[in-house]
Amino acid sequence: MLKATLLKATEAGAKILQEYFNGTFQIDSKSTANDLVTEADKKAETAIFSVIRETYPDHYILSEEAGELSTASNIKWIIDPLDGTVNFAHGIPLCCVSIGIEQDGKMIMGAVYNPFMNEFYFAEKGQGATLNNKPIQVSAKTDLAKACLVTGFPYTWEEEDNDPVTVFGRFIKQGLPLRRLGSAAIDLCWVAAGRFDGFYEHKLNAWDSAAGFIIVEEAGGKVTDFKGNYFSPHQKKIIASNGKIHEQLLQAVAGF
Ligand code: IPD
Ligand code: CA
Ligand code: CA
Ligand code: CA
Repeated sequence: MLKATLLKATEAGAKILQEYFNGTFQIDSKSTANDLVTEADKKAETAIFSVIRETYPDHYILSEEAGELSTASNIKWIIDPLDGTVNFAHGIPLCCVSIGIEQDGKMIMGAVYNPFMNEFYFAEKGQGATLNNKPIQVSAKTDLAKACLVTGFPYTWEEEDNDPVTVFGRFIKQGLPLRRLGSAAIDLCWVAAGRFDGFYEHKLNAWDSAAGFIIVEEAGGKVTDFKGNYFSPHQKKIIASNGKIHEQLLQAVAGF
């Protein structure tokens, strides 16, 4: 039942994204001029909520635009109705709906759907990860020097020793291919699918990472914070990899 509702809610959100993508829509700024929210983010969020509420009127919801719809429930829906809003606003079809479900503080299911590439990722704890219903696995790469990596940048950041520019520079100086797609959920799913060998980002929110986190783990990958400790989607800093290059990636992000 939970799985069916998750898939239905994800599809309902994605349908809205498709409806708006080629048309004109309202775009507003949030924390900075380029931290955007569009009409599609909000409409997709409403469509997702109505699917969840039909079956689960009492479940806790945490969603990017609406915030917390809190009730006393041990099940938490963590929702990004549109991950990759800046891409979406510029007509770049690298964006998706991302929904994770946490039970008693542990991720149990995740779904990420990019309708523009017709790619639906899903994972359930202990059941593996799939792309369009076919099992996926992380890559087999063991050498960071031959890896293809991806990262993302926050809309704003405070100065710190290991800020995103410093870390990015380190990879560039090593001549490593480091991409930036603009959707953390897709970044994580592409690690799960073996397209990327690793991903790191400094400042994510729970709705960016929740679904992708369990999809990477269930595809055989590893997800930690920047120190190699257990990752929870409620933490900002994330490193995800195929597991085999994880230690090397940790060192690279912390400084060679
Ligand atoms: C953003 C994307 C981006 C990441 C940002 C996120 P949004 O989410 O995931 O890749 O670098 O940190 O905020 O705003 O498009 O939902
Ligand atoms: Ca996001
Ligand atoms: Ca979003
Ligand atoms: Ca956003």
